[in-house]
Amino acid sequence: MNVLVTGGAGYIGSLTCVSLIESGYTPVILDNLSNSKLAAVEAIGSLTGKTPECHVGDIGDIALMVELLRSRKIESVIHFAGKKAVSESVSKPLDYYRNNVTGTLNLLAAMQEAGVRDFIFSSSATVYGEPKQMPVTENSPRSAVSPYGRTKLMIEHILEDLARAEPDWSLTILRYFNPVGAHPSGRIGEDSQGVPNNLMPYLAQVAVGRRDYLPIFGGDYPTPDGTAVRDYVHVLDVAEGHVAALRTHKGQVGVHTYNLGTGQGRSVLELFTAFSHACGRNLPSRLVERRPGDIAAIWAEISKAERQLNWRARRSLDEMCQDTWRWQSANPDGYRA
Ligand code: NAD
Ligand code: WQD
Repeated sequence: MNVLVTGGAGYIGSLTCVSLIESGYTPVILDNLSNSKLAAVEAIGSLTGKTPECHVGDIGDIALMVELLRSRKIESVIHFAGKKAVSESVSKPLDYYRNNVTGTLNLLAAMQEAGVRDFIFSSSATVYGEPKQMPVTENSPRSAVSPYGRTKLMIEHILEDLARAEPDWSLTILRYFNPVGAHPSGRIGEDSQGVPNNLMPYLAQVAVGRRDYLPIFGGDYPTPDGTAVRDYVHVLDVAEGHVAALRTHKGQVGVHTYNLGTGQGRSVLELFTAFSHACGRNLPSRLVERRPGDIAAIWAEISKAERQLNWRARRSLDEMCQDTWRWQSANPDGYRA
């Protein structure tokens, strides 16, 4: 079965292509390479023995997408393409609304025209805003604290409205918590352009000497060790969550929403200690001010995905760190090397 994977050359998309191929699906990638390299697609090929077809193009291009959906006999679409940097979304909100929201509308219009009705969307724990109760369930209140978060929330609302208006769609919303890690081969991982925004890639760059030290944003949160708590989940578990969603909901109409996390909160210091252990030395760090907009703690309630998708995150925090380190130490400059 052929699956269109937008953003399939990116971090989560490329690893999802590996899982799809290993499960017998044929991914067809559409990516404008604005935040990725073709080397990731080659790596998918060398890991699985099947290099996916990759079209360099934009989700702004409806005609191209209609043509791909029809000519490749696509049955489902997994939609990763989007911009994801929270701070950049504050300084360039229109770019985020255009790329993420308008881009998704264009993709849905192309699917409408081509008669494809199965859609899986990359949403984010960011749609829970600053949660009052932990862990967050799929029914916890939603809000957004950044333009990036609002794009995810808007798209969720668009999908819910679409399901009401056109009940023949199968629309799955996967809310990832904090995907980290890499393929255990060290061949595919997160290749941050510029200064990483997120904790794990920053830590990995400290470990290979590209950054001097890890700034720890805030030590006075109301958490056990004072640093902020998140639900880090191995990216391959997230990738496998897409295969589980595709298997379960292909052709099953309505909106299906799931948290993809481990259900366990870990502090910045816990991750820092686990990563130092994985790379075999104590890394330099400095406690600095809180990062504006950060929340103290969030982790997922995961029983819905367990029950309905028969999916659960299997990989440990140590594996997340070891796999990241294997990728970063083998590719200190990312795919450019
Ligand atoms: P990524 O930047 O590595 O991958 C996104 C891919 O989409 C890139 O290859 C990029 O080139 C491509 N792309 C962007 N705009 C495009 C466009 N207009 N047309 C075609 N291709 C385009 O990011 P990722 O970490 O793999 O994230 C994938 C998705 O998951 C994103 O939608 C992101 O918002 C969402 N998400 C990510 C995280 C995370 O922590 N990484 C957490 C929650 C949700
Ligand atoms: C984790 C913790 C930081 C960097 C963001 C997006 C969210 C989702 C995942 C896409 C926080 C601390 C970080 C550093 C640090 N992405 N930190 N030093 O903020 O939970 O979520 O990425 O949807 O939408 O908001 O992840 O990895 O940036 O931060 O101390 O150099 O690490 O303050 O507590 P976050 P993160």
